[in-house]
Amino acid sequence: MNPEIPPSGRVTARRLAEHLGLWRRGGSRHGAADLAAGIRMLVLDGRLPPGTGLPPERELAEALGVSRTLVASAWERLRTSGLVVSRRGAGSWTAVPRGRSSGGLADEPADAHQLIDLARAVPEAIPGVAAAAEAALPRFTAELGGHGLYEQGLPELRARIAQRFTERGLPTEPDEILVTNGAHHGLAMALRVLVGPGDRVLLEQPTYPNAIEAVRAAHALPVPVAMTEDGWDLDGLEATLRQAAPRLAYLVVDFQNPTGHQLDEAGRARLGTALRRARTPVVIDETHVDLDLRDSPASPPPFAAFAGDLVLATGSAAKSHWGGLRIGWIRASRELVNRLLVARRGLDLGSPVFEQLVLAELLAAPPAALVERRARLAAQRDALADALARECPDWSFHLPDGGLSLWCRLPAPVSTRVAAVAQNFGVRVAPGSFFAVHGGLEHWLRLPFTRPSDVLAEAVRRLASAAASVAECGAPMADNGPVPVT
Ligand SMILES: Cc1ncc(COP(=O)(O)O)c(C=O)c1O
Repeated sequence: MNPEIPPSGRVTARRLAEHLGLWRRGGSRHGAADLAAGIRMLVLDGRLPPGTGLPPERELAEALGVSRTLVASAWERLRTSGLVVSRRGAGSWTAVPRGRSSGGLADEPADAHQLIDLARAVPEAIPGVAAAAEAALPRFTAELGGHGLYEQGLPELRARIAQRFTERGLPTEPDEILVTNGAHHGLAMALRVLVGPGDRVLLEQPTYPNAIEAVRAAHALPVPVAMTEDGWDLDGLEATLRQAAPRLAYLVVDFQNPTGHQLDEAGRARLGTALRRARTPVVIDETHVDLDLRDSPASPPPFAAFAGDLVLATGSAAKSHWGGLRIGWIRASRELVNRLLVARRGLDLGSPVFEQLVLAELLAAPPAALVERRARLAAQRDALADALARECPDWSFHLPDGGLSLWCRLPAPVSTRVAAVAQNFGVRVAPGSFFAVHGGLEHWLRLPFTRPSDVLAEAVRRLASAAASVAECGAPMADNGPVPVT
């Protein structure tokens, strides 16, 4: 956008006054500074996008019930910092300043146009995917003579997935496996079979945001049980299973998204007993189970070892190999697999053959690439932790043993604001509220360590600038609600 070009859209004085909410700090005698800070916040968090026409000073003064001199003085401050541009005859409009500003804004990052996207906690493909695709080609060619429809999944892929469960200590047959289009598809299918409109579904809070969406899409009611800073509140889970009688539970017990916690064997045994007592089926999302970043991986046995047929485990190649394959699986009792297969007829008729063949090749390969992935993620996790200790010393987090992200506690409840403002500093992150059923978690921000260490260091520098900018703009303005970040 060229800041010299007058705007097309305008905000009225009344609307701007509404946006500003309680802009004046209680007892403050610095009205012009407070007003300028309020407007700066609106520009930075995207509610007054650059290029928005501002109302005449007189009208805004009237709408806010302040003197015109105060508004003029606030405008002057904003002009000096480059956030407002004025031209005689054309009025004033908002802008995002380039380069150094004298108004207290942090410098723009070196390459502000390259957005660092940390909103997705998804790594790139593991080495060997292209080679696996080549190796899969002859088998694929042979398949072309047939119908290509495998509602339960290609037998050879199911055999490999079953073998992996067996190696993890849970004997599994191929007919207890159903291949899906990713773990999320597995959850959607489970909801279709096990839950009806108005049923309650127990979830951890925080949890994987798309799981909350899936529960809502099934017209069910998500019932959150808060995690503690150390992991699962087993008393709270037991009480909710008893009192809320959920129709289904959804839990991520291996390197949970977003906290990174893993439920230990004793916790699994206790929770398994509670689920069996309540007879509540549970979807255990194992998407992150292969991302154990300890020197010697030491994950406890799969959850199904503790709650038997109540468990429907969803897994995925997305984090261990590549999300673009869109292949995952469900491990469940034969009876449940059959019900899922019937439900699948109303949804889709199976997963793509080629991608299944590629994954079968990848699962047959020696684990060297996965070992290397884990080592890289561990190094990136440590680099992110170091950068945070340097740039954001008042943010705290526990260093997870696995998974893909740090769940950071901010010193003030400003996570949505930091996430919104961060986009203007060239980094996209998911605020705590995304991981909650009814918003909130404003003290928390999820930071994935899925990018190279130098990119993470730059992202943290940008985040520190965004956080400083939010802090500078004073206490959160009331009554404006959460700011959506995409
Ligand atoms: C806990 C969890 N479950 C499921 C998914 C989605 O997995 P898939 O891509 O296999 O559908 C993700 C992706 O971020 C996740 O973190």
